[in-house]
Amino acid sequence: MDRKIAVLGDIHANLDALEVVLADARAQNVNEFICTGDVVGYNACPNECCKLVRELGCAVVQGNHDHYCAFEESLEDFHHLAAAVVAWTRRQLSSDNAAWLRSLPYTAMVKGIQVVHSTLDMPEHWGYVFESVEAEPSFSYQKTQACFHGHTHVPVVFEHQFGTVGRLEPGTIELRLGRKYFVNVGSVGQPRDGDPRACYCIYEPSKHLLEYRRLEYDVAAAQARIREAGLPDHLADRLARGR
Ligand SMILES: [Fe+2]
Repeated sequence: MDRKIAVLGDIHANLDALEVVLADARAQNVNEFICTGDVVGYNACPNECCKLVRELGCAVVQGNHDHYCAFEESLEDFHHLAAAVVAWTRRQLSSDNAAWLRSLPYTAMVKGIQVVHSTLDMPEHWGYVFESVEAEPSFSYQKTQACFHGHTHVPVVFEHQFGTVGRLEPGTIELRLGRKYFVNVGSVGQPRDGDPRACYCIYEPSKHLLEYRRLEYDVAAAQARIREAGLPDHLADRLARGR
């Protein structure tokens, strides 16, 4: 059977968005999942989202928020609002889900597809890749045609050919032979590209096809959960803006 893979990440404990994405992926007859990390943080349903992702039984890499929330490290250097969310999430997470998050690798190879949350050159440093120049070092470590990542919450594809890196805007993209693609799958639970809809990708390796999908979900419900939990208001506000 040809692989049809849903690649999703930066879920950030947004259950309302995750449920819509998983339902859409199943309606698209996806037969495999890959998760680029940051299952928790920012939103109000960390355990529920861990449960759904764990039930997928798929490859999952560790995101920076997964790391902060699952390891009892100092939050001294954090912005006070970020520290508040991490501390809240630590209190919520079951010991089993925290142990699962701690066990996640920084990178994964999934039958010829590389996966990382941030960058391939220094995955544990959580560098951000917004521009082509920032994507360049990862290509030195990219052994496969496609590598999926997240972290910025901005969907974009970096294309490497003859030593230069270009940018492709999200849509339906054909992967060409001899080129490599460092694909940011966008964010399920807290998009930051100005479009509040949940974002993920479907990748069909045998067809060399990558398709970005954007989905409306119940933003008001996710906002209500944030407010009920006593998490910072701006986390609820930004969901509606997609910033
Ligand atoms: Fe994230």
